[in-house]
Amino acid sequence: MRLDRPFAVAFEHRVRFTQAAFDPANDALASVLMDPSGDGDARRLAAFVDAGVLAAHPMIPEMLARYLASRARGGDRLPELACCESVAGGETTKDGMHTVDQVLLATERFRIDRRSVVLAIGGGAVLDAVGFAAATAHRGVRHVRMPTTVLAQDDAAMGVKNGVNRFGKKNYVGAFCPPDGVVCDRDFLATVPERHFLGGFSEAVKIACLRDPALLAQIEHAAPTLRAHSVDAAWPIVMRSAELHLQHVTDGGDPFERLNARPLDFGHWSAHKLEQVTGFELPHGDAVSIGVALDCTYSMLAGMLAEGECSRVVACLRALGLPVWHPALSDTTRLLRGLDEFREHLGGQLTVTLLRAIGSPEDVHAMDGPLVARAAERLSHLD
Ligand SMILES: NC(=O)c1ccc[n+]([C@@H]2O[C@H](COP(=O)([O-])OP(=O)(O)OC[C@H]3O[C@@H](n4cnc5c(N)ncnc54)[C@H](O)[C@@H]3O)[C@@H](O)[C@H]2O)c1
Ligand SMILES: [Zn+2]
Repeated sequence: MRLDRPFAVAFEHRVRFTQAAFDPANDALASVLMDPSGDGDARRLAAFVDAGVLAAHPMIPEMLARYLASRARGGDRLPELACCESVAGGETTKDGMHTVDQVLLATERFRIDRRSVVLAIGGGAVLDAVGFAAATAHRGVRHVRMPTTVLAQDDAAMGVKNGVNRFGKKNYVGAFCPPDGVVCDRDFLATVPERHFLGGFSEAVKIACLRDPALLAQIEHAAPTLRAHSVDAAWPIVMRSAELHLQHVTDGGDPFERLNARPLDFGHWSAHKLEQVTGFELPHGDAVSIGVALDCTYSMLAGMLAEGECSRVVACLRALGLPVWHPALSDTTRLLRGLDEFREHLGGQLTVTLLRAIGSPEDVHAMDGPLVARAAERLSHLD
């Protein structure tokens, strides 16, 4: 006997862009804490807050408790707050399973069941680690994300990927698991440490190169103001970048990345390698900036991309104060091992996205080593 039956599961990606999310008059968070199926209300809520965020916003536990209580009094059927714990922030939270274990312990201790909600408040690293724990507790507890950095709001929180680093490899353990909801509160952007604030725009430049030349022009124009940490200038760029990342997940036809093409990983094969060889000292945003500059320069040297378009992208990254080169690029043999690891992580045939023009990506299935070295060498003179 042979039984082959296709089946589909429908997801809804619920994303809110707002301000003052814990103001009881704001229904953004309440709207995603309610069960999308309407089949049952969440019973309990376990919140995990990035320690860096908590240091800058120490009132979060009180504000969250007050928000839930006040909305419940107003008639919303919201979960009761079971715990609100601080978790390590930044890439160290993804260094092995310590944060995942902390969250799993709390879910067990506070009896978080599948109808309950895990709320992650933090940068992309905290969202990845807490989301992974939520995806595995009881085989999957609902989770809601409140991204607090530029990068987490303009990219990471829109994805359906969760995970942590193991064996020195980026995102080696993880799960595809769409969140129940995402609430981006612009107020968090005011306190993001400078390096991470600017670094977050590298993912916006990346998606602009792939999909939206007008967004690139908008970033170029805003760059001086962004360097002065203007949240007003950042917000429309964050929202547009988020919308494009979200569109890729919901309309791109491959949300769980079963196919070879992985356009949103433009610039990422070398970025992940650079993060690894620097012991994750180099932030993801900076690494992506270098990776995008490298793949644009490679595209140009390979005769695909006009020199003027390549210079424009590199100049935009530099105008944002982002690096376009790193000494580790000089060891091309080691760098190129990143290509193998990239292929191994994604499975299937090696597929690297390059650029034909801004807004016109093109996939290739091999990279020329000496040309990668020439691209890196060229960038070394700029940085
Ligand atoms: N899952 C995905 O699809 C996806 C996509 C892109 C990136 N990522 C991952 O995201 C991570 C990078 O995330 P990131 O750039 O948000 O940095 P991050 O999470 O490493 O946070 C950077 C630092 O900022 C602090 N911080 C965060 N928000 C703050 C705020 N509002 N005020 C004060 N301090 C704050 C944190 O404590 C941390 O020290 C990487 O691990 C990357 O791999 C995941
Ligand atoms: Zn990225």
